[in-house]
Amino acid sequence: MPAKVVSEVHKKHVEARQARLKKELDSVLGSVDRLGLEIGCGHGHWLTDFAASQNSGFFLGVDLIGDRIERANRKAQRAELDNIAFIKAEASELIELLPRGVSIEAVYLLFPDPWPKKRHWKNRLVNPAFLERLADRCSRDCSLYFRTDHEEYFDWALDTLESVDSWSLIDGAEWPFERETVFQAKAQSYQSLVAERA
Ligand SMILES: C[S@@+](CC[C@H](N)C(=O)[O-])C[C@H]1O[C@@H](n2cnc3c(N)ncnc32)[C@H](O)[C@@H]1O
Repeated sequence: MPAKVVSEVHKKHVEARQARLKKELDSVLGSVDRLGLEIGCGHGHWLTDFAASQNSGFFLGVDLIGDRIERANRKAQRAELDNIAFIKAEASELIELLPRGVSIEAVYLLFPDPWPKKRHWKNRLVNPAFLERLADRCSRDCSLYFRTDHEEYFDWALDTLESVDSWSLIDGAEWPFERETVFQAKAQSYQSLVAERA
């Protein structure tokens, strides 16, 4: 197939995927205008138990992997929760397509892929461009909770958050909810940080 045709097909594919995601977001969010967002929620254990412990607020989990999201949605249904939804999507795309009236009031990033090889660092979610894009959709008081068992990624996240204007690191901030994630259960040790929308 000629390159021009391949690129047209790809463009149509992306447009269709984004249209589906937009529709799904409108359908699950309804009248929600503020939410807590877990990025890379995996099977949704942490967010489901967190949502169950909260009397108010709405919680959205996003992950790239479809069967993790299916399991997460089944878990939320079994718990009969109406304050949570899980969506299969790439996080940047989902943030981009969030309805304009919706703002993010907390972001949870628990054991994100560390991409240990230097040539893969560009794939790390905590990077300046992503943090700026995220901040643009966050409320002023939004907190970002980050936890990892990868020491070098932890230092990278500290340095990156210090280098951007849109987030400030908070000393001694409380962790919002303790419940082991799948990756936390396998970790020998881990470190956490909290930043706030500047
Ligand atoms: C190491 S796992 C951690 C899962 C879970 N948070 C835990 O602690 O058990 C990282 C998860 O992030 C998801 N992920 C990675 N990059 C992503 C992206 N750009 N958008 C959405 N999900 C992503 C992966 O599919 C994977 O499920």
